[in-house]
Amino acid sequence: MKTLQLTIITLFFLSTTLFVNGQVKTSMIEKRVDSVLALMTLEEKVGQMNQYNGFWNVTGPAPEGGAAQKKYNDLRKGLVGSMINVRGVDQVRAVQKIVVEESRLGIPLIIGFDAIHGYKTTSPIPLGEAASWDMEAIELSARVTALESAASGINWTFAPMVDISRDARWGRVMEGGGEDPYLGSEIAKARVRGFQGDDLSSVNTIAACAKHFAGYGFSESGKDYNTVDVGTSTLYNAILPPFEAAQKAGVRTFMNSFNDLNGIPATGNSFLLRDILKNTWKYEGVVVSDWGSIGEMIAHGFANDLKHAAEYAALAGCDIDMESSAYVAHLVSLVKEKKVPLALIDDSVKRILTLKFELGLFDDPYRYCDPEREKAVINSEENHQAVLDVAKKSIVLLKNDGNLLPLAKSGQKIALIGPLAADKNSPLGNWRLAADDNTAISVLEGMKEYPKNKLDYAKGVELIVGKTEFISEVNINTSDKSGFEQAINAAKKADKVILVMGEHGYQTGEGRSRAKLDLPGLQQELMQAIYSVNPNIVLVLMNGRPLTIEWAAENIPAIVETWHLGSQSGHAIAQVLYGDYNPSGKLPMCFPRSVGQVPIYYNHKSTGRPTIPAPNLVFWSHYGDEKNSPLYPFGHGLSYTSFLYEDLSISNDYKATAEIKVSVKIKNAGKVKGKEVVQLYLRDKFASVARPVRELKGFKLIELNPGEQKTVEFILGDRELGFYNNHGEWVVETGGFEIYVGGSSAATLQNQFELK
Ligand code: GLC
Repeated sequence: MKTLQLTIITLFFLSTTLFVNGQVKTSMIEKRVDSVLALMTLEEKVGQMNQYNGFWNVTGPAPEGGAAQKKYNDLRKGLVGSMINVRGVDQVRAVQKIVVEESRLGIPLIIGFDAIHGYKTTSPIPLGEAASWDMEAIELSARVTALESAASGINWTFAPMVDISRDARWGRVMEGGGEDPYLGSEIAKARVRGFQGDDLSSVNTIAACAKHFAGYGFSESGKDYNTVDVGTSTLYNAILPPFEAAQKAGVRTFMNSFNDLNGIPATGNSFLLRDILKNTWKYEGVVVSDWGSIGEMIAHGFANDLKHAAEYAALAGCDIDMESSAYVAHLVSLVKEKKVPLALIDDSVKRILTLKFELGLFDDPYRYCDPEREKAVINSEENHQAVLDVAKKSIVLLKNDGNLLPLAKSGQKIALIGPLAADKNSPLGNWRLAADDNTAISVLEGMKEYPKNKLDYAKGVELIVGKTEFISEVNINTSDKSGFEQAINAAKKADKVILVMGEHGYQTGEGRSRAKLDLPGLQQELMQAIYSVNPNIVLVLMNGRPLTIEWAAENIPAIVETWHLGSQSGHAIAQVLYGDYNPSGKLPMCFPRSVGQVPIYYNHKSTGRPTIPAPNLVFWSHYGDEKNSPLYPFGHGLSYTSFLYEDLSISNDYKATAEIKVSVKIKNAGKVKGKEVVQLYLRDKFASVARPVRELKGFKLIELNPGEQKTVEFILGDRELGFYNNHGEWVVETGGFEIYVGGSSAATLQNQFELK
């Protein structure tokens, strides 16, 4: 009966829209949502705001006892609106069937999952993709993730994570777009487009989720889940822009963060969720809490019990409770006690139902459950080619003294050494819940594609001892050097050494903060032992965060940053090492010289004492034992060719056009074709709020043949020239500006203009 009821409503509204004064007064979906809402009891409305983790085999017999039985019964009562971690068309069909056929109204579930950088076919970690500065590649990568997720029954991913962070100690920098809000905003838009496409009801697209709103990347001391205390300028000019960009790109869900923001947990922070997101930005999508974050307001010392936490979260604008059961336990009574207005519940439920209609779930709850599609789409050759393409583009050549790279393709004796050289798991990164273990192409496998060189592999040292899993600490090997001798002997006999070192996939990600940023375990010791017998080393870094590698930077002739590069890691790395792909990546986060410099970032303020007043005087902003500059700056990345920048010119017709035009000439001065990310940085020299010494305000990815020259133009409008003042108002102020253009944030080609 209930499904028939819903079907009648759906059919009725399929054919009608309401016109008033020649305008479409309300969308069909809005009318259909209102009609379903009118049928719902308060309990059923609250049920839509409840999300459970699916941790039992839902295709099996009904669970007996414990949490699983409670969840199963709530599903049957219509007290669950969405599930997380139910995946595979069989599982999804089974759990959907319970709700659609057994609950009173049969309102279908949304199925969410952390398809952060791939589903089965895995892309580079987002920080790696960010290094490509290639928005088309990033969008394509997200589209592949959406294709495979949707084919597996999922219709909502908890990505893109758009948290800006300047602190490599924080394990989750791997999941974001780096330290810069402009680049982070462009990436946020590209990923939302890739996941959502232009039709959310298509079985090739999924709803995206801008997370974690907000400020999570500024967790104090880089410790996960820690306090966030930031001022207005940092909040508005560094933290919020990528979220606003995602909202403008049409992202259909937001996830609030775990942290408190200036003392108020984001989950119960109405300034964030209502004042900014829903009222100022006019966001009409859904806000989901992070896992258990409603209940965590008790531990924050903000709510005194779960009911109080539920009240705070509902009043603040959190629409869905992920896995704390606060809403399903307490919201009905809070409404009856008039502590939470029914209108707020209705608003949340309308947002949730709207998303379900947009996903097409009311028209066909099983639309994402086609086993034939699942078989055809998952791990397809096309998907692997796509992630190989973005993997190559994500690799950053940090150093190449003596042009050790690219490697000759024949006649070479190469020693391939290092704990990550044959690793088929770590390249899949931390967020690889759906990927199959040991499925990444290793560097060893990639290098074997070039058989005309003699390849001698020696692991050298174990990075980790014991088993590893997503939820557990990893145990670093700090004593077993039994592999050193074999590796040293291999190095002695080689023309060149490829040394693959870095971090295990589970040394990065959520809950994986580090107080030290050096190469973990015995890697540094092995590297120096190898160096002592053969200095012709290419260091291949495989890691999820910037590392402090100053010794390597001073001694190792070539260093390649390859992040955790996904399923096609080994092929991408080998093709770059052999020059079949000329590296084009640029750092989305600077590399510190030492962890004491952290947080370190290029778009810092000048301070009142930016330079040394006189030789040997101490009274200026500096360290007595370390430089101020990073080891490798934001935007840095070399190529197998070189690029010359000249003729940086400005045409300032701002009064008439509200635009500043900038043009620059770039020439490929080398012997091979190459890509360059031309970066434009702006400095607002004097403003009502002190502005950074430079800020990225534009970039263009271009490709030049040997000897070719191009002119690149940038338009600076109010979006580029303005900033948020300390009242949260967007302002463009008159005064002097400087422009820097080049291949990194250390660009020296400079010009200036005046806004009158
Ligand atoms: C985790 C993460 C969040 C993720 C969610 C669901 O704790 O913070 O990013 O999407 O829970 O797994």
